[in-house]
Amino acid sequence: MTAHAAVRHPDNIAASPALSATGVTVRFGGLAACADVSIVVPQGAMVGLVGPNGAGKSTLFSVLSGLRRPTAGQVFIGGRDATRVSARARSRLGLARTFQQPELFTGLTVREHLVLAHRSRHAAARLWADLLVAGALRGGTGPEDERVDYLIDALYLRDVEHQLAGTLPLGTSRLLEVGRALATDPSVLLLDEPLSGLDEHEAEGLARTLRRVNREEGVAMLLVEHDVAMVLSTCSSIVVLDFGVVIATGTPEEVRTDPRVRAAYLGDEPIDVPDPDGAT
Ligand SMILES: Nc1ncnc2c1ncn2[C@@H]1O[C@H](COP(=O)(O)OP(=O)(O)OP(=O)(O)O)[C@@H](O)[C@H]1O
Ligand SMILES: [Mg+2]
Repeated sequence: MTAHAAVRHPDNIAASPALSATGVTVRFGGLAACADVSIVVPQGAMVGLVGPNGAGKSTLFSVLSGLRRPTAGQVFIGGRDATRVSARARSRLGLARTFQQPELFTGLTVREHLVLAHRSRHAAARLWADLLVAGALRGGTGPEDERVDYLIDALYLRDVEHQLAGTLPLGTSRLLEVGRALATDPSVLLLDEPLSGLDEHEAEGLARTLRRVNREEGVAMLLVEHDVAMVLSTCSSIVVLDFGVVIATGTPEEVRTDPRVRAAYLGDEPIDVPDPDGAT
């Protein structure tokens, strides 16, 4: 059966990957930031995407999330061809992402961000009213409160729940950025360096939360992270990009020992892989 036929038959959609892309190429003038990149994120899987600075990871994220139209290639969400679907509509198909630099509304509180994100997926018609009526996002009465409270606790945001996002330190902004993505109840989540800027304690907590959300809610994740040991210990499969090209795909062990990966990115030293959930 061809890939095209597989996309059209609803019966096959349930069995399709949460997210996949084939032959993605993005050119910036003479530079191919991504060159014929294909990637598969099976339902419920945690897939890592690693590579040196400038390898094309964030560019691929922009294509997957609909913020950049690729020069060539296709993107599928849950088996549906989403190549020409807007970023906003991709979110309604169950895709969420975080940005390398948190993109938050400085004048909204932590809680308001999470309520707004939840309503953007589940009650989009209310959005304008919510934004225009003072206090409409404050919470305490909405159907989303249970989910919002769960995320506030899971991401250690309780102490700053009513603080404006513009006043948060970077580490906390990053936690909120992840919370905002999870508040849309995604089926697949793209995380662009979620641990950068976090101290060790925050990073361990967030990594644990991501693994828990993956395990308990079946949210598939594609994780870009410079902390390679974390990626190797968290993800079931890993894709390695170098100069816009996929140079390896495989299990953590396969990738860890791949000579091209070592040469391109990891150096010649063996990589320590910690226990995924640490001492807890
Ligand atoms: N808007 C743009 N215009 C021109 N070149 C760009 C643009 N965005 C990215 N690039 C280039 O494309 C290449 C890939 O960049 P990208 O940001 O995707 O890499 P990355 O793997 O995310 O790197 P990092 O690990 O530093 O975040 C780089 O050479 C970068 O300079
Ligand atoms: Mg990047």
